[in-house]
Amino acid sequence: MKLKILGSAAGGGFPQWNCACRNCSGLRAGKLHAQPRTQTQIAFSPDDHAWFLIGASPDLRAQLLCSPQLAPSPDSPGQVPIGGVFLPSADVDAAMGLLHLREFQTFFVFATAGVQRALRSENRIFKVLERGDPPVQWQVLSSRGRLGCHLSESPGELPTFVCNTIPLGGDYPDYVSDEFRRAAAPDDATVGFLIELEGKKIFIAPSLAGHTGEWQKLAASADLVLIDGTFWSSDELRRTGRTSKTAREIGHIPLSGADGLLAQFPADAQGRKILIHINNTNPILDEDSPEHRAVLEAGFEIAYDGLSISL
Ligand code: MLT
Ligand code: MN
Ligand code: ZN
Repeated sequence: MKLKILGSAAGGGFPQWNCACRNCSGLRAGKLHAQPRTQTQIAFSPDDHAWFLIGASPDLRAQLLCSPQLAPSPDSPGQVPIGGVFLPSADVDAAMGLLHLREFQTFFVFATAGVQRALRSENRIFKVLERGDPPVQWQVLSSRGRLGCHLSESPGELPTFVCNTIPLGGDYPDYVSDEFRRAAAPDDATVGFLIELEGKKIFIAPSLAGHTGEWQKLAASADLVLIDGTFWSSDELRRTGRTSKTAREIGHIPLSGADGLLAQFPADAQGRKILIHINNTNPILDEDSPEHRAVLEAGFEIAYDGLSISL
C-alpha cells in the first residue's frame, strides 16, 4: 500500500493569509526554520493504480497537479486514478475540495449520513457533483462500521481493503443550521478511519476531539498512525485574538499537557506515528523550537507536504 501526504497544515494552511503570528511572519520573512504547508490532504493506493482520497482539501486542485500518480493517462481516456473520497467530516477544510472535482467526473464519496446531509441538504453548491454521467455516487458510512472495498469486479473475491470508521467526538461545522444540529446524530459529525490491507493497518484521525478514549485502541493496533497535530496548547488560537475558542472547543485535543495527545497516546503502540493537520500557530512547525524537539523525542514525526510512505 502506498500513501502520500499532499497537504499537512490545518485550515488556512501555513502561512495563513490573515495571520501575523510568530510562525507566519517568520516564514514570510524567511527567518523561520520551517516549511510552508498546504491544507491537509491524504491519498492512498492499495495497488499502485487506483487512488483514494481522505478528505477533499481546499487546496486539492494544486495538490493533484503536483502528483503525477493521480493524473489521468492518455492510454485510458475518460478514466481517472481517483476512485473515491472518504470524508472524515463536513468541515470546509475536509470537503471544499469536492468542488475542485466537479468536472463531469464519476467517482465515489464515502461519508456518514450526517456528513452527507450537512453537505447536500444544508448546501446547494455540492449539487454540481451531479453533472457527471453517471453522477458522483454517495455511499453511506456508519460512524461505527466496517466497509469492504472491492476493486475487482470478479464475484467471490475478498475486498481489496477494508475501511473501519469510529466516531472521534467532534461537532458539526459552524455553518449548519440550528435545526440541523438538533436533529443530526452527534457520532456522525467527525470520524476516524482504520484502513486494513494485506495485514497492515493505517489509522487516520486528523481531527480528534479526545473526549473519549475509543481512538486509543485503534491507534495502538495500527502500523501507521496519522493523527491530529493541530495545536500545541489549548489557548493557542485564542492568543491570535481572532477567536475566543480553545483548541478543545473546536474539536482538537492539544499536543501538550497532562491530558494532551502526547500524554494520552498509548505507550505500547508499535507503529509509526505522524502528526498531521498542523495549525500555522503551532510552535512544532519551527524546527529550532523546544516543542519541535519534544514531539520528535516522544517518537512522533511531523507530516510535511509530499511525504510518501510505502507499507
Ligand atoms: C479546524 O479544523 O478546526 C481548523 O483547521 C482550524 C483552523 O481553521 O485553523
Ligand atoms: Mn481543519
Ligand atoms: Zn499564523
